[in-house]
Amino acid sequence: MSVSHFMSNNHRILSVTEEELSRIVLDIHDGPVQYLFASLSLLTQIQSQLEACEEPTAADELLPAVKKTSHMVEEALHEIRSFLGAFRPPEFHTRPLAAIIEGLALQHEDWTGQVVNLEVGDMPEDVTTHSKIALYRILQEALSNAYRHAGVDQIDVKVWGRDSMIWLQVDDDGQGFTPPPLHGPQATEREEHIGLRGMRDRVNLLGGRFHLYSRPGKGTHIMVKIPAQV
Ligand SMILES: Nc1ncnc2c1ncn2[C@@H]1O[C@H](COP(=O)(O)OP(=O)(O)OP(=O)(O)O)[C@@H](O)[C@H]1O
Ligand SMILES: [Mg+2]
Repeated sequence: MSVSHFMSNNHRILSVTEEELSRIVLDIHDGPVQYLFASLSLLTQIQSQLEACEEPTAADELLPAVKKTSHMVEEALHEIRSFLGAFRPPEFHTRPLAAIIEGLALQHEDWTGQVVNLEVGDMPEDVTTHSKIALYRILQEALSNAYRHAGVDQIDVKVWGRDSMIWLQVDDDGQGFTPPPLHGPQATEREEHIGLRGMRDRVNLLGGRFHLYSRPGKGTHIMVKIPAQV
């Protein structure tokens, strides 16, 4: 297989995954979410009828179960919608990288209460969809890790472009950790930890560079460099 054939296959995999994700998100939104909305509205009707019921004993028995069911359906809807929000890809084809990154930072602030100090510098004119997707997903995971593991209320994010390369830097001054070695018998990144591995894999697929510096008590610093056009 030639190098260019290999690369174009990888590119296809990256964008097919995002397209499939969009489809899955829409399917869930248009299918089960709509049924749940309809069930909730029926339950609300039943609840009002029970409340107006002239036979209080029967209603008294049923009302708590109906209220509990409504509550569970509401919770399920809430969870599914947050999940869909996190996975719904932004319009990579049409939106510029800066807007995509700003949107993600705002969404993170909104959902977590953490402050994202974002600096967006000069950008190359053309950034391909593959590069936008990679940067978006890497930043999403880095922010999510800073939220889940760092124990901080602020994260610094910088994005800038130079000489048709794009840099992304994510820093937190949280608790940090000892990154496992990448290779050999001491490579202890657990199978279920797919975040860091996924970031590295995305960058490698695009022929970029990924650096992670972290030590206990010294925060976590991620630096990514990828070509703007791949
Ligand atoms: N910003 C951070 N601050 C402190 N520890 C971190 C940070 N980022 C990663 N870690 C540590 O590295 C581990 C591996 O991170 P990774 O993202 O691969 O997996 P995860 O977040 O635990 O799970 P997931 O697969 O859902 O991402 C984390 O469990 C955590 O211990
Ligand atoms: Mg993670």
